[in-house]
Amino acid sequence: MTQSCPLPVDSRLHVAIIMDGNGRWAVERSLPRAAGHRAGAAAVRRTVEAAPGLGIDTLTLFAFSADNWRRPRAEVDALMTLLEEFLGREAGRCARSGVRLSIIGRRDRLPRTVLAAIAGAEAATAGGERLDLRLAVDYSGREALVAAAAALVGSDAAGLEGLGAAVAAVTRAWPPRDVDLLIRTGGEQRLSDFLLWECAYAELVFTPVRWPDFGTADLEAALACFHRRERRFGGLAGAAAS
Ligand code: IPE
Ligand code: IPE
Ligand code: MG
Repeated sequence: MTQSCPLPVDSRLHVAIIMDGNGRWAVERSLPRAAGHRAGAAAVRRTVEAAPGLGIDTLTLFAFSADNWRRPRAEVDALMTLLEEFLGREAGRCARSGVRLSIIGRRDRLPRTVLAAIAGAEAATAGGERLDLRLAVDYSGREALVAAAAALVGSDAAGLEGLGAAVAAVTRAWPPRDVDLLIRTGGEQRLSDFLLWECAYAELVFTPVRWPDFGTADLEAALACFHRRERRFGGLAGAAAS
């Protein structure tokens, strides 16, 4: 991925990132996996700081999947502690830089201390208008679809728009936004149950870069790749379209 032209920074893009590769980053350095997650938190900060200047107004980051509860207890505990620390540490910085931070996903299985940190961070940053930062925690795209369908039973609001709104409402990913660009770091090329509905027409960029190594240049390269793509949404391109 090389950047060949200046990026249009006046766009309003929803970029979603599957932040993968923390564990391998650590193992490759003979460190415990938790050290990879800790290093990943610094990459989150770099990405959040760079995003508004690159035309991104909504950034959704996959921090913990509903299936990640299957990991060893010690790793899950380390991830929850890191999340709590991150929210406590970054809320003030986000508020000062116009970043509205919110958590999407389930909340009924999170530790109470994490819930308190979420409430504090969401309240402190509620007025942010430069970037809508959504952290997906205990998130499952399939569960979101099931919950949305259940919420619509007997309602007149079914249909594409109604289901899209319900998916957004049940995960608190409000307002509903389709993903423009999905990036997955770490080398795997799969969705792992992330934003299945919202990614219907997302452009996909996969990079082998481990998440803790992901920097502004990697984000710019992914965006440059995105801007070279032709999005057709099922129609035809250029002159053939008319
Ligand atoms: C992503 O990194 C972070 C979470 C899933 C919480 P991983 O921990 O999955 O890292 P790898 O894929 O094992 O390298
Ligand atoms: C997806 O990564 C979840 C997050 C990045 C938070 P995983 O590492 O859990 O996904 P799989 O198991 O490789 O599909
Ligand atoms: Mg992984």
